[in-house]
Amino acid sequence: MTIGIIGSGNVGGALGTAWSQAGHDVIFSSRNPQSKEVQELALKAGPKARAASVAEAAEADVVLFATPWPLTEKAVRSAGKLQDKVVIDATNPLREDLSGLEIGTTTSGGEQVAEWAKGAKVVKAFNTIGYKVMADARFQGDRSVLFYCGDDPQAKETVRGLASDIGFEPIDAGPLVQARTLEPLALLWISLAIKQGLGFEFAYKLLRR
Ligand SMILES: NC(=O)c1ccc[n+]([C@@H]2O[C@H](COP(=O)([O-])OP(=O)(O)OC[C@H]3O[C@@H](n4cnc5c(N)ncnc54)[C@H](OP(=O)(O)O)[C@@H]3O)[C@@H](O)[C@H]2O)c1
Repeated sequence: MTIGIIGSGNVGGALGTAWSQAGHDVIFSSRNPQSKEVQELALKAGPKARAASVAEAAEADVVLFATPWPLTEKAVRSAGKLQDKVVIDATNPLREDLSGLEIGTTTSGGEQVAEWAKGAKVVKAFNTIGYKVMADARFQGDRSVLFYCGDDPQAKETVRGLASDIGFEPIDAGPLVQARTLEPLALLWISLAIKQGLGFEFAYKLLRR
């Protein structure tokens, strides 16, 4: 499967590297594909990865958006036609000072991305954990949970597989409207990491009885 990464920063870099090392073809995009950062990222990720333009990455089977929220609308629009494509939205509509979300409760970043990416099969995923966990989801014999939600069952199955391929325990959180609950969960993660001093090497786990 080919995965196009739009936003090859902390999140896009960690996920793209993990997927390429799990055997997927990964296209890391940048607004400047010749930049040293994205060229080195692709080189480090291994032979299944390469750097390219945003438009080229958008042609992949699956397209990941991992851009800062204020730049996400522009990034989605610059990707061109995304009709029928599996789109993973890993963004969080964070206020710049991390004090809260720009939108929420009655809508979500995930639903907003689905509006911009007309006709795409949007799955919200990888937004509730930090990028260091994305690089390695295993915790001493245990696995980090990965919540995802979306309206297209096949697209969700694809994302479930991609999460599993890189070591997560994927948990279906329901339709895309559940992004309204997953995005505040990301805010909790950030607050625990930074304000409560837990650091970046922790993740959510689900217990069952
Ligand atoms: N950091 C985390 O641990 C974490 C965890 C979960 C979710 N998130 C969410 O994931 C998103 C990305 O976070 P991050 O920490 O990975 O950000 P980041 O390190 O700042 O990376 C963002 C990337 O977006 C690219 N970009 C910006 N505008 C673009 C555009 N118009 N078209 C294409 N690419 C564009 C930039 O690449 P170029 O300059 O090369 O184009 C940059 O590398 C945010 O919404 C964040 O809330 C972050």
